[in-house]
Amino acid sequence: MDGQHAAEKPSCIGVMDKALALDRDGGDVVHLEKGEPDFDTPPLVVEAAVDALRNGHTRYTTSTGLLELREAICGFYARVHAVDIDPERVIVNSGSSPALLTVLLAVLAPGDEVVLPDPAYSSYRRLVELAGAKPVHVPTRHYDFRYTADAAAAVIGPATKAIIINFPSNPIGSTADANLLTEFANLGPLVISDEVYQGMSYTDILDPTILSVTADAVALQSFSKAYAMTGWRLGYAVLPPHLVSKVKAIHQDGFVCPNAFVQRAAIAALAHAEEIFDGWRGPLRERRDLLLAGLPELGFEIPCTPDGGFYVFAKLPPGHNDSYTFAARLLSEARVAVVPGPEFGPDGEGYVRLSYATPAPRIAEGLRRIGSFLTKPPSPRGETHGQLSAR
Ligand SMILES: Cc1ncc(COP(=O)(O)O)c(C=O)c1O
Repeated sequence: MDGQHAAEKPSCIGVMDKALALDRDGGDVVHLEKGEPDFDTPPLVVEAAVDALRNGHTRYTTSTGLLELREAICGFYARVHAVDIDPERVIVNSGSSPALLTVLLAVLAPGDEVVLPDPAYSSYRRLVELAGAKPVHVPTRHYDFRYTADAAAAVIGPATKAIIINFPSNPIGSTADANLLTEFANLGPLVISDEVYQGMSYTDILDPTILSVTADAVALQSFSKAYAMTGWRLGYAVLPPHLVSKVKAIHQDGFVCPNAFVQRAAIAALAHAEEIFDGWRGPLRERRDLLLAGLPELGFEIPCTPDGGFYVFAKLPPGHNDSYTFAARLLSEARVAVVPGPEFGPDGEGYVRLSYATPAPRIAEGLRRIGSFLTKPPSPRGETHGQLSAR
């Protein structure tokens, strides 16, 4: 029963599915809902995977990932962030999502609480619940969606076991400097820092990692976003030494090991990380700036200018308050897909998330369509949530 209810809830994937169904019917949808880069995986990474397959890298590997890959990950942290990490602290998994799940299963018990921002990537609260604990949301709307350590401190209590942070963030695009990371680290409970959008930013400097301020936190990383490898499924957790054996035990039983040839491709990706990240910077900045200029002209407000990742979180124009109704009508009447803000938590009501993981000319077309949609009178039928959430 619960499972059925969950499947009916509006979700990011639900919007994507409906938008794709419209595409299949020749609907010509402008996709501003996607949570994955439209860039192709860099050819050198593809070549490394093909070579690995040809060379027989098709078997189980060490459960926590090839030592060569874990050393390459530590080499990346030493080179880019000037942080020394022991490869024994790295557990590679099939994406950051299973890596997060193993960490939550290792640290949480029923009755525990996990602090996270509202709005936030929606899987956090579901994975925390799956691990038997309770998500405790930190409302951020009144601080222009900035997630601060002071705001998190206000909800920390005796049952708080962990604090999830995410910079650059989904859905806001906010980033953190080393001072902010230190403030979170000093709060006391274990900090789990989701850093999967690092490498997709607009400055030459890579955002700092929590590992540069403390070894006593979890850093989650992924090849999905910054290396355009969502479908390859590879990510990892860097753990404080005291958590390694517990997480390793869950990882071994639940996930065995990540794909052998994908691990080989990841070694190549890490060797070229800086040039890969450099390649995204220009197009991402151009696309973001299109939205930052175009949305306010249409009456949207952007409380927090995104500095990283590829999302803009925008307040609906005057006269529009219900995010689901707005997104559903925009999709069916203007063929533009966006994600309703409450998908990321109750503080997102009245907002939508627009992704700029789509080429600039399509973003311009999306803005044009949103503009004509806003000049139309409301639909007489009044589209409802249900139609949007159909999966
Ligand atoms: C903030 C955040 N963390 C984690 C993930 C999942 O990443 P992965 O592909 O590594 O499982 C996503 C995907 O959209 C995300 O937005």
